[in-house]
Amino acid sequence: MNLLKNHTFLEKNSIVLLLAIIVTVLIGGIIEIIPLFRKDTVIEPVEGVRPYTPLELAGYNIYIREGCYNCHSQQIRPLRDEVARYGHYSLAAESMYDHPFQWGSKRTGPDLARVGGKYSDAWHVAHLKEPTDVVPESIMPSYEFLIKRGARLHDLQKHLKAQKAVGVPYTEDMIEMAVKDATAQASGEGRTDVSGLQERYGENVNARDFDGQPAMISEMDALIAYLQVLGTMVDFESAKGITVDGQEGEAE
Ligand code: HEC
Repeated sequence: MNLLKNHTFLEKNSIVLLLAIIVTVLIGGIIEIIPLFRKDTVIEPVEGVRPYTPLELAGYNIYIREGCYNCHSQQIRPLRDEVARYGHYSLAAESMYDHPFQWGSKRTGPDLARVGGKYSDAWHVAHLKEPTDVVPESIMPSYEFLIKRGARLHDLQKHLKAQKAVGVPYTEDMIEMAVKDATAQASGEGRTDVSGLQERYGENVNARDFDGQPAMISEMDALIAYLQVLGTMVDFESAKGITVDGQEGEAE
């Protein structure tokens, strides 16, 4: 009865009711939000996920500059139709080194979270130059100019440093060698020594001339290097290898 009386008081005094609502919502909000500031508590590490190589990072920057995220998402939701179309649903760890995240919220074009390895480099060059040449009904704009523009490599060291400041585990060595690693990755084995690059980023790094014009490291090289690594870091084929917090995961 007492409780009901107090409530009558609240309901008859709108300012007091408002204050009570604010306090209640604040408490709920704080409890929800505070733990998320500690990234370690929300993202389970997954084997295979590594920071982007300097060339991939340069491509990621172009992806943002050109606003590709306005038409493309990078998050496959755990729904049957999405998994059937795009592949294994996205894991939080797969975008843990994206600053900012490229999840996107609009799909004018398909999701790109697992586009890596789906097409050849030549397909990407043709598609980015003139999308309708390979997909006649496409409404994607042409990005032909990327092949004529030199990729911005000179300040990659600073980029890596900035990423490190927000928690990406780049080593001093990686920062030091950033420009060399980018050049090596866009030139590829046979033309350069990629052993240092592989030592730092792993054997599976794609190192080759992505845009088919070996004389120059273009923005096309960087963007395709980025697209080709999307969704390929975690080995879902031999999915027994996926350990989430020490436990064995399932493939699908
Ligand atoms: C105006 C919207 C729009 C923008 C901006 C856009 N795209 Fe697209 N994209 C599409 C559409 C629609 C398709 C599907 C038709 C096609 O394949 O061209 C597509 C397809 C693609 C595909 C093939 C995906 C697949 O699985 O078949 C890739 C890769 C791609 N876009 C990359 C990019 C990149 C990189 C950028 C930025 C440089 C970009 N897109 C900007 C609309 C867009």
